[in-house]
Amino acid sequence: MFLPKEGIAPPLGRDAAAEIAPDEPSVAASADPADHPQNLYRFPALYDALKTPTPADVAVVRALIEHNVGPGPWAILDPASGPGNWLRPFCDGHNRLFGNDFSLPMVRYVEQTLGPCGCRVQHGDMYDLRISESFDVVLEVSGVTSIVPDVPTLGRVIDHWARRLRPGGLLLLLVNFQDLLPPQLPAVTWQVQGVPLAAGGTAGVCYELVEDRPHNGTQWIRRTVTTQGAPGLPPYLCEEYALRVWSPDEVLAAAALAQNARLDAVVHPDNAFDHVCGMTGERYLVFRPAG
Ligand SMILES: C[S@@+](CC[C@H](N)C(=O)[O-])C[C@H]1O[C@@H](n2cnc3c(N)ncnc32)[C@H](O)[C@@H]1O
Repeated sequence: MFLPKEGIAPPLGRDAAAEIAPDEPSVAASADPADHPQNLYRFPALYDALKTPTPADVAVVRALIEHNVGPGPWAILDPASGPGNWLRPFCDGHNRLFGNDFSLPMVRYVEQTLGPCGCRVQHGDMYDLRISESFDVVLEVSGVTSIVPDVPTLGRVIDHWARRLRPGGLLLLLVNFQDLLPPQLPAVTWQVQGVPLAAGGTAGVCYELVEDRPHNGTQWIRRTVTTQGAPGLPPYLCEEYALRVWSPDEVLAAAALAQNARLDAVVHPDNAFDHVCGMTGERYLVFRPAG
């Protein structure tokens, strides 16, 4: 069964973790993060506050949607929606929004926070979406492709998600491509501190690249979260996990495996019109329905 915490997680029943991160502890599987070691996914509101996209980030994604599928309202699906922080910017009562996530607390959180503005959400597996309706847009732009273990599985995910598209729709994915390594490891790759929390107090998160593992296309990441004066939240939370970084050849091979989707563009996440940015670091992949 799937483990709702950060790190590489294959489709149900396939234990790729043993292949990719042998030293990661194996724990009994449950859909409830409370059964697992302390992890950020247990605290959707904290995750939401720390990982909410900036208005500039949202503007790029909105421009890509408008450019590819035309003006709204849109039907949008996030197959691994987390606290819904990429659905919220579009939750205006006109767009038809749908979230899916394997973490029960995340699903409950979206029901409470985005239900009132019309967003629907279900508890489910992104590798085996049980959704019959089709969408203008299927997006996962926070990098869940980094928990997909290998090229065939990435190809299957692209294909599976593209099946949910209506003709002329857009599948938008964030992918972490291999990039130049910082001169010294561990190195801080991203952090934010002093973020105010809705329920009081403040929080911060720091991501570090601890080790590059080119032999299996992964990087060992340490995520450290701290909270100050936040009732009910842990003052300190540190997790380590492996994430996939992809080579251009691997992503092109996965795209070629997807019968239902055509890779249309690789776009810089800071500029919706930069399609000549190359395949290094974080990039958006624009897929359109094949045929
Ligand atoms: C990095 S978060 C991204 C959340 C959201 N898409 C966003 O943009 O913030 C990854 C989410 O994927 C969920 N997830 C991981 N594997 C999943 C799976 N097999 N099926 C459904 N959700 C999954 C986790 O529970 C977590 O909420």
